[in-house]
Amino acid sequence: MVNKITVVGAGNVGATTAQRVAEKELARTVVMVDVAEGIPQGKGLDQLQSGPIEGFDSRIIGSNGYDESKNSDIVIITAGIARKPGMSRDDLLNTNAGIVKQVAEQVKATSPNAIIIVVSNPLDVMCYVAMKASGFPRERVIGMAGVLDTARYRAFLAEAMDVSIKDIQAMVLGGHGDTMVPLISYTSVSGIPVTQLLAKDKLDAIVDRTRNGGAEIVKHLKTGSAYYAPSAGAVQMAEAIVNDQKRILPCAVWLTGEYGMKDLFLGVPAKLGRKGMEKVIEVELTKDERAALEKSAEAVREPMRAVKM
Ligand SMILES: NC(=O)c1ccc[n+]([C@@H]2O[C@H](COP(=O)([O-])OP(=O)(O)OC[C@H]3O[C@@H](n4cnc5c(N)ncnc54)[C@H](O)[C@@H]3O)[C@@H](O)[C@H]2O)c1
Repeated sequence: MVNKITVVGAGNVGATTAQRVAEKELARTVVMVDVAEGIPQGKGLDQLQSGPIEGFDSRIIGSNGYDESKNSDIVIITAGIARKPGMSRDDLLNTNAGIVKQVAEQVKATSPNAIIIVVSNPLDVMCYVAMKASGFPRERVIGMAGVLDTARYRAFLAEAMDVSIKDIQAMVLGGHGDTMVPLISYTSVSGIPVTQLLAKDKLDAIVDRTRNGGAEIVKHLKTGSAYYAPSAGAVQMAEAIVNDQKRILPCAVWLTGEYGMKDLFLGVPAKLGRKGMEKVIEVELTKDERAALEKSAEAVREPMRAVKM
């Protein structure tokens, strides 16, 4: 375990993330920071009291400021507003850019060596805001989206084929939006290419459902967006870093020429270890996949240009 992990935002994603971090004992101290008075303190205390039942020794502290979060090893940013029905992730742009900028400046001042995992939407642009406002190198600012999108894709595939999710290997790349790129050519079931097990029309329908996976949940919930799978995604990334696992996970990473692109955050396979984002893995793409990735990059660049840093 590391000494301290801070989760900024004690809302649905943030509080669930903090609880998961504590249950896995990834940090000795878990700090939840939120501007809402009493919320992080109350939820933190409640979570702390689940420790004796769940059997974890991590301490959980809720706060409205950053003093308690000083010198965190990892900071997970979930602060911001979430989507309501009919909203796209880009509709959150200006409000969340202001929030994430202010949060990243606080992180820089209080935890200058932390690794930041960004969750707030629109994800790829918020990563850019966090990197600019913190001044941290790209190795220490990583976005969570691909892990979630891939989990949705894997869950739908397992359901359709009636097989264990454990046997499905897959990767969803690109921006965290409708233009995301599920890679069919890298999807397999215990090494068997998925195209041998599932008809094309079924596969296409799953790809489509994955792209709209977040909106499907927003439509049901009406008052907010998904948080169980998103928090699980953020914690999987934190776990890979804490335990130096060198896992290859799809993450939003600042590209510096990989995949022929630079100066934007985009979902690509990356190796996560104790230093953060340790390597971007470049894989071969089909012509269609490459075109889809470029289209997705354009969908990220547009709101990125609109945000003033
Ligand atoms: N990357 C992904 O895959 C993914 C998945 C799900 C949700 N999200 C995003 O995560 C964010 C949080 O979602 P949620 O469902 O937890 O929302 P929520 O409304 O439940 O919680 C957000 C919390 O942020 C707090 N907050 C606002 N401004 C703050 C500030 N300046 N400092 C600290 N805290 C602040 C609010 O008080 C609130 O408690 C949203 O932007 C949502 O779109 C991303």
